[in-house]
Amino acid sequence: MSIKAPRGTKDIFGEISEKFQEIIKMSEIFKQFNFEQIITPIFESTDLFIRGIGETTDIVEKEMYTFEDKGGRSITLRPEGTASVVRAYGEHKMYQEGSKKFFYFGPMFRYERPQAGRYREFYQIGAEVIGECSYLVDAEVIFMADKFVKKLKINNYSIELNTLGCKVCRAEYQVALKAYLTQFREHLCDDCKRRLETNPLRVLDCKVESCREYFNDVPTLEQYIDDECKVHFEGVKQIITTLGVVFHVNSKLVRGLDYYNRTVFEFVSQDLGAQGTILGGGRYNNLVGEICGGIDQPAIGFAAGMERMAMLMPKMEAKTRKIAICWQGEMGSICALKARLELIEAGYITEMSYESKSFKAQFKKANKDGVDFAVILGEDEVLRNIAKVKNFSSQQEVEVAMSNLVEYFKEA
Ligand code: HAM
Repeated sequence: MSIKAPRGTKDIFGEISEKFQEIIKMSEIFKQFNFEQIITPIFESTDLFIRGIGETTDIVEKEMYTFEDKGGRSITLRPEGTASVVRAYGEHKMYQEGSKKFFYFGPMFRYERPQAGRYREFYQIGAEVIGECSYLVDAEVIFMADKFVKKLKINNYSIELNTLGCKVCRAEYQVALKAYLTQFREHLCDDCKRRLETNPLRVLDCKVESCREYFNDVPTLEQYIDDECKVHFEGVKQIITTLGVVFHVNSKLVRGLDYYNRTVFEFVSQDLGAQGTILGGGRYNNLVGEICGGIDQPAIGFAAGMERMAMLMPKMEAKTRKIAICWQGEMGSICALKARLELIEAGYITEMSYESKSFKAQFKKANKDGVDFAVILGEDEVLRNIAKVKNFSSQQEVEVAMSNLVEYFKEA
C-alpha cells in the first residue's frame, strides 16, 4: 500500500499555496502597526502549554501531541503560538525594552477530529502585544485584525466581542454559573458534567445542541463584572465603534483557552459550516506572570486560521504576466534560455521546456499552465534574430526583434 499523509494533515500546493503566500504578504499591515516577526520553535516543553493554556482546557486535556524525546524530556508540538511568544519574551528579558509587538505564522498541532476546516496540523497567523494595558490597544488590535482579513477580500463575517472580567469578578461569576447549571446537570453531556466541576465557564463552550438548550438563560458575566473591567470594556466598544468596526456583543463567548481576561473576540464566518471561526483572540494579563515567573505584564493578541481564511478568499488572479518560451533546435534552446532570463529579470513569470518537443506539444503545455503569451524561437526566427510572440487570448502572432523583446512586453 502506498503511504499517505497522516490523518488530519494535508499537502499545501496550487491555489491554496498561492493564497497562503497572499496571507503572508498581507501581514505587511502588521509591520505598519510596528509589529516585528518572531519565529519560535515548533516544539516546546509540555509544561509551557499546561501552564499557559490551562489544565482543564480541551487542548491540554486531549488534543496535544506530546512525546518523550530521547533525553527523556516531555515535549509537545505547539498547539498555538501565544504561550511560545510569551516564553520568548521572558526568556530574552524583552520586558527591559518596554512594550513589544510581535507577529508570527506557522504550523500548529492539535489532535482533533478532522473535518472540513479542522485539521491536526493547521497554520495560524497571529499577533501579540505585550506590556500595554490600555483599552486603546484592544481596540487597535481588533481594528488591525479586521483590516487584515478585509485585505484578503474576505468580507462575510461577524465580529463577536465579550469581556471575561478579571480573576476576581470571574470567580464570583463561576460560582453563580455553576449553581445555575447544576440544576440541569443530569441533562448535560459527560464533558459538561466534568467541566462543571473543573471549569464551569468552559461548559458554555460546549457545541452539543441538547446541552446548549440549557444555556439560554444562564447568568451572564455582565451582572458580575467589576467597575474597572466595565470601564475597560466600554472603552473598547466605544473606540472600535469610532473606528468603524462592526461588531456585536456575545455574552456567551468564552474562548477555548484559559489565559484570557477582559476583552475576548472572534471573527465568525457563516460560509464555513461548523468550523466558522476564522480568527480568535483576547487580552491575557496574567499569562506573562504565569509563564515567566515574577514578571507581570498585560498582553493582548489574536490568531487566525490560514486554511479557513484561504477557504473564504476569492480565487487568486494572476497579477504578473506568464510567458512560455517555446523553441526548436539547439540554437533555439540557447536563445530561449537567454530570453527567459531577460524576461525574469524584467519581472515576468516564464517557463520553457528543457527537452526538444514539437511546438504543438509546447503550446498545449503552455495553455494548460494558463500562460498569457508564448515567445516562439524556431530555427528560422533564430537565424533572423527575431521571435514570434503569440498572444494566447487573441491568438494573434507578431514578430519582435530579439533585442526589443522586453520592451515589447512592457508596451503590450
Ligand atoms: P484559537 O481560537 O484556539 O486561539 O485559534 C485561532 C484560530 O486558529 C481559530 O479561530 C481557527 O481559525 C484556527 N484553528 C484552531 N484550531 C484549528 C484546527 N484544528 N484546524 C484549523 N484551524 C484551526 C489561539 O490559538 C490563540 N493563541 C489566539 C490568541 C493569540 N489569543 C491571544 N493571542
